[in-house]
Amino acid sequence: MLTLLLLVNLVQDLPDGPGKAEVMKICLDCHDLDTVKADNRTKEAWKKTVAKMVDRGAEGTDEQLDAIVNYLSKNFGRINVNKALPEELVSGLDFSPAEAQAIVEYRDKNGAYKTWRDLSNAVDPARVEAKKDHIAVQ
Ligand code: HEC
Repeated sequence: MLTLLLLVNLVQDLPDGPGKAEVMKICLDCHDLDTVKADNRTKEAWKKTVAKMVDRGAEGTDEQLDAIVNYLSKNFGRINVNKALPEELVSGLDFSPAEAQAIVEYRDKNGAYKTWRDLSNAVDPARVEAKKDHIAVQ
């Protein structure tokens, strides 16, 4: 019964979507989900993390590992606001096209953002704050 409860808990902790099954199957052998979810990362960083786990002994086909990288990037991702195209700011951070444009224009004019707070110079600070855990400045 306890095992069942724990299992239900684990499954509910991950949003549905392609790649979830692979994460459940491959990434929970050595540690729990909290270790995986502790930090949001950019897609590049997730790729590196998954490669590091393979070095440590995680086993999966290239397709499974790609599915994991895509799943984690979508659900536990960060977008590097200093490199992102406007459409990536829209799809990855849910900014409106006008906000995305303002973010890119500010960056072009003033140089790289140093912290997520700097985005408040371009768009509504409340909107930025809501997304801060998914913003990377690199
Ligand atoms: C063969 C064992 C093993 C498997 C399978 C495994 N990991 Fe790990 N992972 C480790 C070890 C060892 C650590 C470091 C100790 C710890 O934090 O528990 C770690 C730490 C982590 C961390 C936090 C520290 C860091 O290096 O960033 C993340 C994130 C992570 N793993 C993600 C994953 C993902 C995603 C998968 C599935 C592709 C996965 N792990 C599968 C062994 C494994």
